[in-house]
Amino acid sequence: MPAASPRRDLSHFRAIAYGGDYNPEQWPREVWREDVELMRSAGVNLVSVGIFSWAWLEPEPGRYETGWLDEVLDLLHAGGIGVNLATATASPPPWMAHLHPESLPIDRRGRVLGVGSRQQYCPHSTAYREGAARLVRMLAERYGSHPALALWHVNNEYGCHVHESFTPAAHAAWHAWLTSRYTTISALNDAWGTAFWSQRYGSFGEIPLPAAMPSFANPTMQLDWRRFSSWSIERLMRDEVAILREVTPDVPVNTNFMGFFEPLDYWSMAEAEDVVSDDNYQDPADPEAHIPSAARGDLMRSLRRGQPWILMEQTPSTVNWRQRNVTKAPGRMRLWSLQSVAHGADGIMFFQWRAARAGAERFHGAMVPHAGADSRVHREIVELGADLGRLAPVVGARVPADVGIVFDWDSWWAVGQSSHPSSDVTGREHEAWHRALFLRNVATDYVSTRHTADDLRAYKLVLVPNLYVITASFADALREYVAGGGHLVVGPFSAIVDEHLHIGLGGYPAALRDVLGIRIEEMEAMAAPNTVMVDGARLRCSAWHDVIELQGASALGTFADGWFAGDPAVTHHRVGAGSATYVGTVLDADGLDWLLSGACRAAGVAAPMEVPPGVEVAVRAGAGGRFVFLLNHTDAEVTVPTPQGAVEDLLGGPGATGPELTLGPAGVAVLRCRA
Ligand code: GLA
Repeated sequence: MPAASPRRDLSHFRAIAYGGDYNPEQWPREVWREDVELMRSAGVNLVSVGIFSWAWLEPEPGRYETGWLDEVLDLLHAGGIGVNLATATASPPPWMAHLHPESLPIDRRGRVLGVGSRQQYCPHSTAYREGAARLVRMLAERYGSHPALALWHVNNEYGCHVHESFTPAAHAAWHAWLTSRYTTISALNDAWGTAFWSQRYGSFGEIPLPAAMPSFANPTMQLDWRRFSSWSIERLMRDEVAILREVTPDVPVNTNFMGFFEPLDYWSMAEAEDVVSDDNYQDPADPEAHIPSAARGDLMRSLRRGQPWILMEQTPSTVNWRQRNVTKAPGRMRLWSLQSVAHGADGIMFFQWRAARAGAERFHGAMVPHAGADSRVHREIVELGADLGRLAPVVGARVPADVGIVFDWDSWWAVGQSSHPSSDVTGREHEAWHRALFLRNVATDYVSTRHTADDLRAYKLVLVPNLYVITASFADALREYVAGGGHLVVGPFSAIVDEHLHIGLGGYPAALRDVLGIRIEEMEAMAAPNTVMVDGARLRCSAWHDVIELQGASALGTFADGWFAGDPAVTHHRVGAGSATYVGTVLDADGLDWLLSGACRAAGVAAPMEVPPGVEVAVRAGAGGRFVFLLNHTDAEVTVPTPQGAVEDLLGGPGATGPELTLGPAGVAVLRCRA
């Protein structure tokens, strides 16, 4: 698993990285100087350059024009600003498609996606891959020892617009991938269960691209297609990383992720890079936007096992791609930026530095808006720069978490398929489970199914909101974790199938029946909302009903209504000092709060301190101390107790002086505390 090379992480930054995407090629030279001046006065110390510059850098095939980039990098360096240099492969120039029309992607409906926006390449195009490799090598050789170079930005938001392609090249690669995965066609036939519906293949060459079909597609074929499509894009990334590592072994590499992005397995991609980064565009019209943001931050931090990450893109004000683009009200940009720091970010960046005059994104917010530096948004940018400067002691500190939430792309891809008992279990159940813990200020990591029992032992409580696909090795890891005293909670439609999507027999969930102490005979979509009766409370539930037989577990809650009234809905199995809880239905928010707060109590997990609703408390701890972040997500002033051992508010508030402190609307305090 990712062991960060000491040279190739963010530790050498010693400050929170602050800046944004910088596109000087869209502006005349005079503006570049003003940009650097403004960046300096805003405290900007890192900008991402060249993300969409391929056509500028290589105006004709094989002829590179780098003079302008030399100048930009020199100017930035003279201004003390580091560069997150893009490999510029996110959008090939129009000549690529003109000379190599086969480089364009073809979508599921058979349409060629052409030139005129961005990302118009098939991940399997030889012309694209070779052109990208030449460009990356040229950039690495030319700028590898430039003093401004701090980080490589590989491509941009891989898979954002094109995450699968149906070209002849993709078809050939699909065959090669399947051949290497299964070796023989009979192994593939077994794995895909092709005895069903006359699907038996005589050779790999007979296998089609899984595009349009008359009825339900073979489930394992669909899952393999998603694995293949994710792998195809990861391969592009790994190709670039290999060149960068060869030419510039000491420069960290990253590519920007998009939170819980379904098409790409970020666990696997994060292993290929040095630093994780995320692009997070919360919708300011959503009063709860900070809640999924917290989950994203937790995922980003977890992808490389707690290593600090970078918020690579957000907008300071509005985006341009929603139907209605609401701005971040004063203070929200600061609050949400500092929330990312609280969840482990050591970099706060934006799309983009200067608002464009032309092109599809000209109404997108920027650190320097069309109104110029004399604007509310830019003033908030300058203030945020100063705040982040004060948070330098936090750099490198980790986020201690006692709870791990299992999250797996394979399972997400598979559970989202059709022909299941209900389409209401979607693989996104972790959102509601995370929310329940977030509202109680319990810190959570995400964990992958690549984690071993030893890895799981770092957590007092492990949650499996949904894990439809389970491998034998991960089932063993969970079993061992519980046997060793760990506490496990599992949600419905979990551990049903193996990695080929074959169902475990003898009662569900075959792979975990013993540790859960139950046997499920039937699963169905629950026809009407129901109630779970638990000791002293009635919880609402819906969507899913398991017919559970207790085999060692006891019932914590029973269904109130229906032909199954009185049957177990929530079960609990004590295993030595550990326990395994199962929920055979979908609980609403109050129900999840009951379930998970109870599980936390039993596992000895507690929030760092009690705060009023709407206030978030999060902790980072490291060599520089223990830092308690208090974030007021409400529009009202709130009073909170001063954390124990508080020495000072790094943000300059009077915080540490009395028993309580006041946070204004959207206010934040970061208290350095004695350990
Ligand atoms: C993404 C891209 C950027 C820009 C922004 C707009 O994050 O990476 O290039 O298009 O969206 O919100």
